[in-house]
Amino acid sequence: MRNMITIDGPAASGKSTVGKELARRLGWRYLDSGAFYRALAWKALREEVPLNKPEALSELAKKTRINLSSSTEGLRIFVDGHDVTQAIREECVSEAASILAALPEVRRVMLGLQQEFAARGKVVAEGRDMGTVVFPDARFKFFLDAELEERARRRHRELISRGKRASLEKVKAELTERDQRDSTRDVAPLGPAEDALYVDSTHLGVGEVVDLLLHKLKCIEASQNNK
Ligand code: C5P
Repeated sequence: MRNMITIDGPAASGKSTVGKELARRLGWRYLDSGAFYRALAWKALREEVPLNKPEALSELAKKTRINLSSSTEGLRIFVDGHDVTQAIREECVSEAASILAALPEVRRVMLGLQQEFAARGKVVAEGRDMGTVVFPDARFKFFLDAELEERARRRHRELISRGKRASLEKVKAELTERDQRDSTRDVAPLGPAEDALYVDSTHLGVGEVVDLLLHKLKCIEASQNNK
């Protein structure tokens, strides 16, 4: 068993906020697996590589250098040395990431990069297939969910705070479309691992979810030690 935590779940369920805080409290590294797909999507859009060309995209994935570095200012994402931390959060990148994430050739390259990242110490890994495909042997697995209305409100609030204009209805439609694509694809579809603990964060704040997960970690640890 690998001593790490995986958090999977749909878009805007709070995985990254919770994952970052959990990693900070434990002193572990934080792996934002979606950032890898976003980074590649950013490059594909920039180089105008069509999103329906699997071979071209897997070639692009192989030759692109994606780096995640955590500092006191937070996580920064680099593509071939360029800081793309802000740029990859644009809505057009979210959609492109979800389209190319359905390609097995692309996922294979990303899986290697994500496992390599986690090989360098304890991590909290967040995404769609962390507990099911990338780290099936993780010791602690969670599936973080929330009702669509609440997730849309959270994402909408976040966009407004970044100075973006968006209607709540449009945000909701985009989340629905992305979740649908992520959960119905053939490879590594979004879904809880059999041994993941399901957490509904609809009525919980970030601090409450983090406290709940820390409490669950202790319970799981105790039950594993008693075996
Ligand atoms: O989590 P985030 O919204 O940044 O992820 C962007 C997209 O990347 C997701 O909609 C999904 O299509 C893809 N993704 C994935 N597997 C992961 C993480 C993200 O397919 N482990």
